[in-house]
Amino acid sequence: MISSSVSNSNRPMTGAEIREAFLDFFAKRGHQRMASALLIPDDSTVLLTIAGMLPFKPIFLGREQPPALSATSSQKCIRTNDIENVGKTARHHTFFEMLGNFSFGNYFKEQAIIWAWELSTEVFGLDPANLVVSIFQEDNEAALIWQNLIGVNPKRIIRMGAKDNFWASGPIGPCGPCSEIYYDFHPDLGHDDINLEDDSRFIEFYNLVFMESNCDSQGNLTPLENKNIDTGMGLERMAQILQKKSNNYETDLIFPLIKKAASLAGIDYSEVNEKGKISLKVIGDHSRAISQLICDGVSASNLGRGYILRRLLRRVVRHGRLLGINDHFLVAMGEASIELMSKAYPQLEEKRDIILNELAQEEARFLETLERGEKLLSDILKSENQQISGEQAFELYDTYGFPLELTQEITQEHGRTVDVAGFEVAMKAQRQRAKEAIVTIDPTLRSTIEGIAESIKPTLFFGYEVLDRSCQVVALIVKDELVQEASTGDVVKVILDGTPFYGESGGQVGDRGMLLGSETEKTSLIVIIENVSRNQGLFIHSGRIKKGTLRIGDLVIAKVDTHLRRRAQAHHTATHLLQSALKQLVDASISQAGSLVDFDRLRFDFSYPGAISLEKLEKIENLINDWINEIHRVEVTEMKLEQAKVNGAIAMFGEKYGAYVRVVNIPNVSMELCGGTHVSNTGEIGLFKIISETGVASGIRRIEAIAGTAVLPYLNDRDRLVKELGDHFKAPPSEVMVRVIALQDELKTTNKALLTARSELISAKSAILASQVELVGDFQILVSSFTGVQAALLSTAAKQLQEQLGDNTAVLLGSILEEGKVSFVAAFGKDVVQRGLNAGKVVNHIAKLCGGGGGGRANLAQAGGRNLKSFESALKIAKSELVSLLIESPL
Ligand code: SER
Repeated sequence: MISSSVSNSNRPMTGAEIREAFLDFFAKRGHQRMASALLIPDDSTVLLTIAGMLPFKPIFLGREQPPALSATSSQKCIRTNDIENVGKTARHHTFFEMLGNFSFGNYFKEQAIIWAWELSTEVFGLDPANLVVSIFQEDNEAALIWQNLIGVNPKRIIRMGAKDNFWASGPIGPCGPCSEIYYDFHPDLGHDDINLEDDSRFIEFYNLVFMESNCDSQGNLTPLENKNIDTGMGLERMAQILQKKSNNYETDLIFPLIKKAASLAGIDYSEVNEKGKISLKVIGDHSRAISQLICDGVSASNLGRGYILRRLLRRVVRHGRLLGINDHFLVAMGEASIELMSKAYPQLEEKRDIILNELAQEEARFLETLERGEKLLSDILKSENQQISGEQAFELYDTYGFPLELTQEITQEHGRTVDVAGFEVAMKAQRQRAKEAIVTIDPTLRSTIEGIAESIKPTLFFGYEVLDRSCQVVALIVKDELVQEASTGDVVKVILDGTPFYGESGGQVGDRGMLLGSETEKTSLIVIIENVSRNQGLFIHSGRIKKGTLRIGDLVIAKVDTHLRRRAQAHHTATHLLQSALKQLVDASISQAGSLVDFDRLRFDFSYPGAISLEKLEKIENLINDWINEIHRVEVTEMKLEQAKVNGAIAMFGEKYGAYVRVVNIPNVSMELCGGTHVSNTGEIGLFKIISETGVASGIRRIEAIAGTAVLPYLNDRDRLVKELGDHFKAPPSEVMVRVIALQDELKTTNKALLTARSELISAKSAILASQVELVGDFQILVSSFTGVQAALLSTAAKQLQEQLGDNTAVLLGSILEEGKVSFVAAFGKDVVQRGLNAGKVVNHIAKLCGGGGGGRANLAQAGGRNLKSFESALKIAKSELVSLLIESPL
């Protein structure tokens, strides 16, 4: 049987057609089609989404309800463990797409195998003679199904050990034996010596995992509640097979990027040597990865995911340089990646600016240091040493931004190695230094919560419907230790089987309230709950026992502080209105960059290049208050993600959504995906007031606002302030402004008058001073002091006096200023300067005596000091110095 989709057409299927054919095949067999989750997983055990099953892990573990009994997806994945092989082998990638069909306790081994075979042979048209399967060595059931039900030649059913055919998503978590389907490029070589590791002959394209166990942190396997199916088909691999290419890179999923890079380098892929081909393949592969990573909210840094992005991005730049591209080219690669993938992943187009911006910035940052680093490295490589020391590698990393692996790659090209252990030591020392500077989260608590999460079910949340409910205590933590009971005075963390308390998330604060004794003895126990957070699906109620004893298994009444909850709700719905108003009145492309929904305020960060004018802010405020007064219904519905998107719901950047999403809809006003709590109609918000609009980072603005009952205390504060100002300025509030302006004008006039009075005073004093001039041989000197005359005025006076008195005169004036400072000015006539005296030196010397300094030209200089006590004596010293200089200086 050969597939219609392949045999009817002369051309091979494109990547997009393969993806669609897979999803369609399983959708027609009752599977729910799921959108790809983000590359940032909601799973603390891995940094990135590494397999199609990852978003379903909580379902396999029984911690979350499945959206349907079976599902199918094309999941964006990134693996970096084989990064060195990218471009060198036919099929290693960082970014790839994994097609999968999943059963959550629905069908199992037999059905999974039947469908996998049908899909491979009938939809993708693979000749059964080209197929080989592997099974876990102990899995006789799988062997029988392949052999008897499917009819595979037993010689083409290969038994493999746990290393190859027992699949787990990590050291802890769901796992099970698996069976893989391989494509054989050379069936003519027969089936006697099948070695599946020979990748020139075989390529594994489909992995069927029979997920039936959970592996705990000790490595013990326990059966899962359900027998599940998790499969993964590498989209790029199937494209390689069907498009008859010798490697994945030459398929239509990546090759356009290789062509783009080749054209930027002015070379031809088919003609370039092997090394050049590798560089082109690395650029093609990594360009997809970096665009997708940035799209999903990763930004380059030296930690975690940010470091992975930085490393990939820098490898692209470096391979570009190996090909002779010395200019900036990442934006061009980013644009080509968006064009190539945005049909399947429209978010790439939506985030175009963010992606290209990050690429441009990070490339510029790297290029700045790359040349200096390359020079340093080439100097190091000139030495005789076979090994680059750990410190040298660390310096390259720390100062020049060279990822270790890049240094290794370059040194390898020169036949040298890097002292990796030495690098680690240097790195550790630096981390230690950094650590000393920050407060870390208590690791014991993390492990306690994670430990509990392995053994208890996630907390059920009832707080959308009720704010008061009877719940059972399932775990208690006091001082980071699990305890059986806690009593009066203890600071506790309480986990209940279910709760009406909202746990902090999506920017909304956790609820506050109380836990009380059971229905009959409510007052026997009072626990004040100050905050509720979430971790691993558990809601952690943090508080203090005011009265009574709390034990595991106790039934308690969980009572949310309704007043505070209402305030948080008003702020949350107001945040949605604010986002809509910004889109409507400022720019439709504005998107959320962060938010805080608190009891007494809201903060909304959004992408926008410049400040929003006061006039616009007023319009926004008015529109929101109109929506409040119009009393719009707030409808909350659960629907499939795809449906929500079709309906136009706004999704938050970087957020992970399940198959079913909660849509908060205010018809004709706003529609957002949101897990938070909201008012039931906009009228409940009461009033909305913007408090401030500021910039928080480049291209990110922040609006702080208040809503509902939180507006009253704010207005009261303002009112009090205005009243106080009125009392102070002796004017009714409405006239305060007029009064302040009048006072400012009055002050200006007074200052002017003061200045005139002072300069008149100086002129008058100057006349008197002129008569105090002392003769020193053929010269005259005048030394005098003032009070409260600023340096500028003093300088004018000194100059005027000197000019009046003639070229043979040295004038030195000092002034004690109101601020406790002193000021000196010296103005020397031409003859005095010719005599060899320097005004700059003289004032500097006196100012030094008063704890200051200064200087200027030989004929005019000024200086200042702070030591008032030395003022008089300094002037005296200066005078006698002037006298002796004028007498002694040779003509
Ligand atoms: N989880 C398995 C894998 O990644 C099958 O999808 O290979």
